[in-house]
Amino acid sequence: MSAAPAAEPKFVQASPFGVDLVPGKDYFYCACGLSKNQPFCDGSHKGTGISPIKFKVDEAKKYWLCGCKQTGAAPFCDGTHNKEKGLKKYNEFLLKKNGELQAQLADAAKAKPSRAIVNEFSIVGLSLGVVVGAFIASKYFRN
Ligand code: FES
Repeated sequence: MSAAPAAEPKFVQASPFGVDLVPGKDYFYCACGLSKNQPFCDGSHKGTGISPIKFKVDEAKKYWLCGCKQTGAAPFCDGTHNKEKGLKKYNEFLLKKNGELQAQLADAAKAKPSRAIVNEFSIVGLSLGVVVGAFIASKYFRN
């Protein structure tokens, strides 16, 4: 029996997160890419087989934490987002987003087919015709 393949972290963004950190505090970097509180863990990794990376810093300053989740120096950015590995993940991310947008457009088109739009214009046109017809009739067919 072979072991299950290792989970892949989800690409988050093609640049690092600049965050102000302070010494003496435990931080938990999101390594799975699912957290809604990037770049920090919010517990969303449960069941993925990926764990957050606990770390501390030595001085209070801005640190650059990896956003593409491909760094070789986690949790810190090592520039991988601008190298082939990071760019490939970014490309995959964009293709997936494009597919999702295409699906949303297709769903929107199904929800409101063009025939319904034509019917709405028909109703407005008929209403206008009745009003104009009544106006003309009142001018020419008075007793
Ligand atoms: S939510 Fe991503 S590592 Fe915890």
